[in-house]
Amino acid sequence: MTGPKAGLEDKPSQNKGTGIKGLSNSNDWRDRKTPLQRARGDGSKMEGLVHHGKVPQAAERQSGVQDKVKPIIERWKDKDGALIPLLQEIQDHLGYLPREVLEEIARAMKISLAKVLGIVTFYAQFHTQPRGKNIIRVCMGTACHVRGGADVMGKLQEELDLKNGETTPDLAFTLESVACIGACGLAPVITVNNETHGRLKPEDIPGIVGKYRNSI
Ligand code: FES
Repeated sequence: MTGPKAGLEDKPSQNKGTGIKGLSNSNDWRDRKTPLQRARGDGSKMEGLVHHGKVPQAAERQSGVQDKVKPIIERWKDKDGALIPLLQEIQDHLGYLPREVLEEIARAMKISLAKVLGIVTFYAQFHTQPRGKNIIRVCMGTACHVRGGADVMGKLQEELDLKNGETTPDLAFTLESVACIGACGLAPVITVNNETHGRLKPEDIPGIVGKYRNSI
């Protein structure tokens, strides 16, 4: 299992914003509304939204997610120590952990939503926002830094029009910085999914991004 998020060992949570380019980066994750809640607004516009077909679309999406995760929750909910493996299995299926699913887990396991959120935000392996099909990690360790890691990151940001930690709107790429990934001899290094690209120069980046873009 991936360990606790750096700097969070003594406290449960730091919020990460949406990470999706073009979406709000509000730090107050717990206050973010689900798509259905956003569609409902203050409730007074509900009838109008139903009339225009917006709420059923959001509700259908949500119910599709619930259909996928319910059997998984049912299988785990009464087992001791099930919360983390349950979260891992659901994330494997959905790619991330939507808030409405976390609420469903809390209900089914008869535990507080705060407890579920505490686990999800504590461990780096869990993600509460959709992530790109291709995860690009740029090493910012010392060896990579002195050999031009920042220039490689800058070129990736330019090529993808993203900031560190963001995901492209088409969910094709997520860009992240990481500490040393243990390939210092190849510095500067990036990984794309499970593949390592080393001894990079900024001019190598368009070709690498293009390769993964074309494989989508
Ligand atoms: S510092 Fe980048 S791989 Fe070690």
